[in-house]
Amino acid sequence: MPRVTFLHYGETSGDVDMNLSLLEAAKSLGLPLNHDCGGNASCTTCRVEVQAGLDQLSEIDFDEQDLLDREALSEPRHRLACQARVLGDVIVRVPGSKWETPRPETAETQGVDIR
Ligand code: FES
Repeated sequence: MPRVTFLHYGETSGDVDMNLSLLEAAKSLGLPLNHDCGGNASCTTCRVEVQAGLDQLSEIDFDEQDLLDREALSEPRHRLACQARVLGDVIVRVPGSKWETPRPETAETQGVDIR
């Protein structure tokens, strides 16, 4: 199984199934990555920067490249987590603002006092 490492406020690593998107991999590791368009390659809120293992991700397709180009994010290390599929070990950095904050109802259902 490929090992995926997310660098954000700290470091979270884990083994994930082959061909999961980075977005799905983050979710499986308990890291709630933003995905405002629902994973349809139309918002860039899921953008990550690949630190290692760029060749261990699926090839970028036209829609992903087109969106990154339009948003001036066309450096090769930029990928959309909803589109990039994991083929081997990778390390990606996620801007801090890209991580969701817990919603009050979520915190309540988990027994966390949010007051
Ligand atoms: S979730 Fe919108 S582009 Fe990935």
